[in-house]
Amino acid sequence: MASASVSASPSVLLPTYARAPVAFERGEGPWAITADGTRYLDFGAGIAVNALGHAHPHLVKTLTEQAGKIWHTSNLYGAPDGERLARRLCEATFAERVFFTNSGAEANECAIKMARKYHAAKGHPERYHIITFEGAFHGRTLATIAAGGQQKYIDGFGPKVDGFDQVPFDDEKALRAAITPETAALMIEPIQGEGGLRTVPGRFLKLLRELCDEHGLLLIFDEIQTGVGRTGKFFAHEHYGVTPDIMSIAKGIGGGFPMGACLATEEAASGMTLGTHGTTFGGNPLAMAVGNAVLDVVLEPAFIDHVRQVALRLKQSLAELKDKHPQVIEEIRGEGLMLGLKLRTLNTEFVNEARAHGILVVGAGDNVVRLLPPLIISDADVAEAVKRLDAAASAVEAGLKRPAAE
Ligand SMILES: Cc1ncc(COP(=O)(O)O)c(C=O)c1O
Repeated sequence: MASASVSASPSVLLPTYARAPVAFERGEGPWAITADGTRYLDFGAGIAVNALGHAHPHLVKTLTEQAGKIWHTSNLYGAPDGERLARRLCEATFAERVFFTNSGAEANECAIKMARKYHAAKGHPERYHIITFEGAFHGRTLATIAAGGQQKYIDGFGPKVDGFDQVPFDDEKALRAAITPETAALMIEPIQGEGGLRTVPGRFLKLLRELCDEHGLLLIFDEIQTGVGRTGKFFAHEHYGVTPDIMSIAKGIGGGFPMGACLATEEAASGMTLGTHGTTFGGNPLAMAVGNAVLDVVLEPAFIDHVRQVALRLKQSLAELKDKHPQVIEEIRGEGLMLGLKLRTLNTEFVNEARAHGILVVGAGDNVVRLLPPLIISDADVAEAVKRLDAAASAVEAGLKRPAAE
């Protein structure tokens, strides 16, 4: 599927991304459309961001109405829409306090600072270490690359921010051994996104809660990718009945408008007193209006049921696809509409073939292809997606059969 929608002049953007040779001008529900009208089924949703698809009428109406009123006021003044969004998030979760940010990494920065400050305010400033898990991804700021612990993101950026101790995934012994009198918190994604759709076993999440209670640590869940209905619950930790003290969210809550938030219990947030943290843009009226509009839809009782039903259909179809293409697909992973194909062939090649067959999917670590469609997809969209993924898998398979010299 060729597209002539990418500029021919050399890019002056920082070349930190290997951009695909396609650009989108508009979108309709699960479809992303180029300037020449080529339509792609968007099963990446901007990496789990466009929870309600593209150009959702309620979001468009809300944003345009807000744009005609006021764009920005700063946190120096009252924020009625921010208060409302925060209250709604608290009512729907464990949380009692909310700090709004512009991105996921900033939500994690707030979570990290909050955990450290909690102990410092109680007279233990030496308790600033946070234990994280191999394969984690928490963002690209200096602290969050240290938290994620991936060398490829850390190298070349000076000394790694101190105070992050990493242990292997799902390794109780290593975790117990890593907890010291300097530990402040444990931080984990209930399902690793960038790390390759690795689901943390429920018993391990329960163990984390127990260890936090036993040692006076705070439990931080990074639900930036898993949150806001993505896994078939409002937040993924609800599948396991384990509640964090602090939770970072972003992506889906803005439905495409850049925003995030750090949610916490009153106790966990108790160190964050006047002047201890701030942001110019976080909680901006445009973002707050959109966040409230996203909740209007996602918190409708039938919405998450829909996610679960359509996700089940997608997962079943993907299992059939795996049986049909055993040379290409090794395993289906994930929960709800956060699904992954663990491949035997190169995931980047599959992503390109999928795009060539009119469907957008996203690569992840561990040679996984992520499917993160908008939560509003229908059964017909699932059928269409599977048809296109089937064609992509067949193309990859055909490549395997070609002689190497070709
Ligand atoms: C689990 C997780 N944490 C943090 C981040 C960072 O979010 P952002 O890119 O908005 O800073 C991401 C982004 O992919 C993520 O998936």
